[in-house]
Order: sequence, then structure tokens, then C-alpha cells
Amino acid sequence: MAADVRMLAVRGLLKVLPAQGGGRSLREILAEQPVLLAAERGLLTDLMFGVCRHYRLLDHWLGEQMDKPLKSSAHAVRLALLCGVYELWFSQRPQHAVVNAWPDVCRGLKAPWAAGLCNALMRKASRTNAEEVGRHLDIPVRCSLPDWLWQRFDQAWPEQANDIAEAALLAPPFTLRLSDAAAEQALLDDGLQVRRGTLAPQAAYISPARPVQMVPGFKEGWLSVQDEAAQLPVLLIEAPQGGRILDACAAPGGKTGQLAEYFPDAELVALDVDSTRLKRVRDNMERLQRSATLLGGDAAKPNKWWDGELFDAVLLDAPCSATGILRRQPDLKWHRRDSDIDSLCGLQARMLDALWPLVRPGGVLVYATCSILPQENAEQVQAFLARHEDAREDTPVEAHSVSTTHGCQLLPQADGPDGFFYARLRKAN
Ligand SMILES: C[S@@+](CC[C@H](N)C(=O)[O-])C[C@H]1O[C@@H](n2cnc3c(N)ncnc32)[C@H](O)[C@@H]1O
Repeated sequence: MAADVRMLAVRGLLKVLPAQGGGRSLREILAEQPVLLAAERGLLTDLMFGVCRHYRLLDHWLGEQMDKPLKSSAHAVRLALLCGVYELWFSQRPQHAVVNAWPDVCRGLKAPWAAGLCNALMRKASRTNAEEVGRHLDIPVRCSLPDWLWQRFDQAWPEQANDIAEAALLAPPFTLRLSDAAAEQALLDDGLQVRRGTLAPQAAYISPARPVQMVPGFKEGWLSVQDEAAQLPVLLIEAPQGGRILDACAAPGGKTGQLAEYFPDAELVALDVDSTRLKRVRDNMERLQRSATLLGGDAAKPNKWWDGELFDAVLLDAPCSATGILRRQPDLKWHRRDSDIDSLCGLQARMLDALWPLVRPGGVLVYATCSILPQENAEQVQAFLARHEDAREDTPVEAHSVSTTHGCQLLPQADGPDGFFYARLRKAN
């Protein structure tokens, strides 16, 4: 069965990684897989996430071993070889089992010619390791980042860029938002370790990680999966009793649920352009036994969905490069292009400008992204303030922010929060 799972990993990666198709999201492909036993799903997830995390390093090593590159028609074989090397270097599974497994996968891919090559490469790979191979390589190859992205990190955060690149290689922590007083004890009673966050009052780091459906209290709505940094923007929302709050990019609803918990009397409107994703907001709110008005629409075009009544607060958790969460979505490194950043900045600016008139005088707009690029964050806020005389920045000074001209910027921390940015903008009275 493990051989079939390895084959599933190769077939899945064919749909994700570039060259000959690819381009689909890792999570989407994993969600489409057949029902598997927990151990099989663990192996599949590890192989697919791991190869995406370390793709450039693995590919570099493979390229160095070959006299001539594999034909483009042998893309599946190439991915099988990368998976095999990944499994040897990064998993705890016995080396001999891994060395023997992958030639069989090549045969299963109807490439019996590759079985001998695979066997030889697996033996070679088992005599070295990632650290040894990476030691003399430049950071973007060692840490598997596209050059353009490494350059952006290095330019924005010269002192922290190495740590940022290393952090993107680590498995992310399993972080929850605990909404009910009974939640923590239920986790402990089930044998889980719980470490409370230091930034967000409801954050808890749980180990070992497990599918959230199997975490006690999930079905009851006592807890939700949410990174600690992602829990912070809602803490800056202000609204009077019975006030109106707009969550402008709401899906899948992590922050909508949090807003509903913090402001149970508010009239909460959750908007998203993607109606499929909006269904996840509904499911989330049902599980939490909370309610919100769900609207399908474009945040940059309020004339299509706004009823004309002002909001006390708007949360804009904007689409972004997601450069702060690469450890959670390593496939993004291979999907994004440098030119995407300008397009994303344009979209964010259009959303900010379009939503600002919906905020009542004295009200707030909290802008958030899971990006660590200043163009999407501090510079975006600076440009917004220059365009809107009736706006002033009102982000509390936070000790957890790295030095930045506007807003609060967090960089990803091993076993801690994701990279994240938020700023509060207040409208003149
Ligand atoms: C960062 S995610 C939001 C995460 C969400 N706030 C949460 O906490 O679960 C960005 C969302 O923006 C949505 N989006 C993208 N473009 C949009 C637009 N023009 N108008 C409204 N929503 C949009 C995407 O569908 C996506 O669900």
C-alpha cells in the first residue's frame, strides 16, 4: 500500500509543480485524494509538502548527478526521483525501505527503464544528506526559494533574510484559537500538549498535530485552527454595541468567526468574491453557532453589493503574496511570479480606496495581509494615507513588531506565529 501512496504523491505533484502543467494548489490536490488510513495520509502529505518545501535543493542535486537531463516526457520519473531523495534526507523511515521503494514506483509509472537509474541514485543519495549538499550552495538554492523572492526578502529584511528563508523550510506549528473555557482542559484530557501563545489571548500551540476533526472540542465549536498572528487584527476592531462590521475578504471565515465571538451583538457582514469559499464561511459559522450575513461580491466594487449604510469597522484581510506563510503553503513559492506582486498591490490599493467611503466618520478600517513584503504592507499604508486626507494611522505600538514605518509587521517564527502585517486606519470625525 505504501507503494501506491508514493505513486499518489508523484501523480499529485505532477498537478502542482511547474513544467508540463502543474499550477494547482497542494491543499486542493490533497483534498481530492481517496480515503486513506491515517499513516498513509501522513506519508502522502509529508512527501507532497516536503518536495514542495525543498524542491530547488532536490532538483539541484539531481541535476548534478545526471550526465544529461531527463527528457521532458520523463517528468513523472523526475518527480519520483525527487520524492525518493526527499524521503531519504528528511524522513525518519528506514533507508533500505526507501531505497527499495522508489524503483518500484518507477516501474509503476510504466518507466521500467528508470528503475536501475533510480536504484543507483537512491544509493548515492543515501551516502550524503541535505546539510552536506547545501553547505556550499547559495541561500536561494539551499533554502529552495526562487531567486526573485530571495532578492525581495534580502532587500526588505537584510538582517533577517536568512532566518526568513530557513523558517520557510520548517513544518508549521499547529495553532488553535480557543473560544471556550472548557477547550484547554479537553485537549489536555486527550493527551495533547498545550502551550498558550504570548501575543493573542486565545492562541494555543498544540502537539502532536492531528487532523482538526479529531481534536476534542472542534465539532462543538470550542476551537478553530488559526495562526496566532492571524488572531491579532480582530483585536484592533472597534464597534459599539449593536454596531455594523464588514469582513471584506472573509473566506474561509477564520476571522469572521472570531469577530462574531468578540462582537456577539454586532451586525456582521462577511463578503467574499469566491462563492465556493464563501460556503466554508457558512460551515464555520454553523460549527461555532454564530451568525453573519454572507455576501458574494467584489470588495473593490461596493456599488454592486453595498446597501448604503455605513460601517463602524471594516476588516480588509486582503489577498496577498502569502510570503509570511510559505511554511504552510510551500507550493506558493513555485506558483507565484515576481510580476504578481505589482498586480496584488494594485488590487489591495483598489480595495482600500473602494472600502474607505463605507467607514463612518470616527470609524476604523483594519488592513491585514499574511505578507512580509513592505510593498504590500507599510508602503501600501503610506500610499493610502497620502491619498486620503481624512485618514490617520492608529495602530497601537506593539513590542512584537519588527521596525517598520507603518503598521505592525511580524516575521515568521519557528514554533511561533506566521509572518503577518496589520494596520488600523481611523477616519476623521
Ligand atoms: C487572505 S484570504 C482571507 C482569509 C480570511 N479573512 C480568514 O481569516 O479566514 C483572502 C480572501 O480574499 C478573497 N478575495 C480575493 N479577491 C477579492 C475581491 N476582489 N473581493 C472580495 N474578496 C476577494 C479570496 O477569495 C480569499 O478568500
